[in-house]
Amino acid sequence: MLTLTIIKPDAVESGRAGKILGHLEAEGFTVRGARMVRLSEVEARVFYEVHRERPFFGSLVAFMTSGPCIPMAVERDEAVSYLREVIGATDPAEAAAGTVRKLYAESKERNAIHASDSPENAAREVAFFFSEAELRRIAGDPALTQV
Ligand code: CMP
Repeated sequence: MLTLTIIKPDAVESGRAGKILGHLEAEGFTVRGARMVRLSEVEARVFYEVHRERPFFGSLVAFMTSGPCIPMAVERDEAVSYLREVIGATDPAEAAAGTVRKLYAESKERNAIHASDSPENAAREVAFFFSEAELRRIAGDPALTQV
């Protein structure tokens, strides 16, 4: 099962991206797609549209467009629920010991990492950054590598 994670601009900027990826790999996740992007305002607003009525929406969009981030499609058994456990609570002050946010996040907003919160959202969010053809080509799907 695939899910979508994003190493957020705070973690990229502070040089913690490698440690976070290592943490995910140590927890059994395999990277199936990855790239570094600088989200546009429109992209950030669409990606987070479920939060558009929240008071923090404008600030969240400003933060997510403030620098490069690293979206990744990652795979593991029970990927969606397990990754949510591994990253910890939204606010690092409330995150359990040993979770990514407890170890690497600065604040409730600048919280180092995003992970899809349901299988439906994982499918939508993976597709937001990676096409099916791209993921299959990366995986070496013979139907896509033989011309
Ligand atoms: P994420 O898991 O990416 O999903 C929505 C994001 O909004 C969340 O991480 C935080 O970065 C941000 N967020 C959620 N709640 C708040 C809040 N109360 N104040 C500021 N930012 C928030």
